[in-house]
Amino acid sequence: MPMEPKSLKIAIANDHGGFALKRFLMEKFALDGTPIEWLDLGAYSDQSVDYPDYAEKLAQALKDDPSIMGVAICGSGVGISMALNRHAHIRCALCSDETTARLSRQHNNANVLALGGRLIGDQVALSVLKTFLTTDFEAGRHTARIEKFSTC
Ligand code: RB5
Repeated sequence: MPMEPKSLKIAIANDHGGFALKRFLMEKFALDGTPIEWLDLGAYSDQSVDYPDYAEKLAQALKDDPSIMGVAICGSGVGISMALNRHAHIRCALCSDETTARLSRQHNNANVLALGGRLIGDQVALSVLKTFLTTDFEAGRHTARIEKFSTC
């Protein structure tokens, strides 16, 4: 019997400034036949909300299930990434290009990708997300550095 392809679970949280990009990514993102399981933590509209509340929801989701990857979107990506990085188990990287996304995985073992919903283009966001999710941590010399500021 053929094996079911392993699915990828992504928890995603946003404020009003990230709502449109969240919807776009959930509709368009695909990964070579890998089923994507989205855990949409809100916000669910473009009504004004406070990004720290959604950062908290995402931080809790990754605490409950450390195997999942997170995506966090606010208008600039700055506020929500700051709020997330107050948690020791979160390594959130604000990325606007593929190189930063790749390095954030290879060197920093980032577990959350932050995006600026009002700043990044939709197609760039798709490529940045793909790079982030398909790049492995290189471990080695990077492990001890990460351990100095986080709990894995
Ligand atoms: C909301 O207007 C905006 O401040 C927020 O989305 C984010 O950009 C904060 O860093």
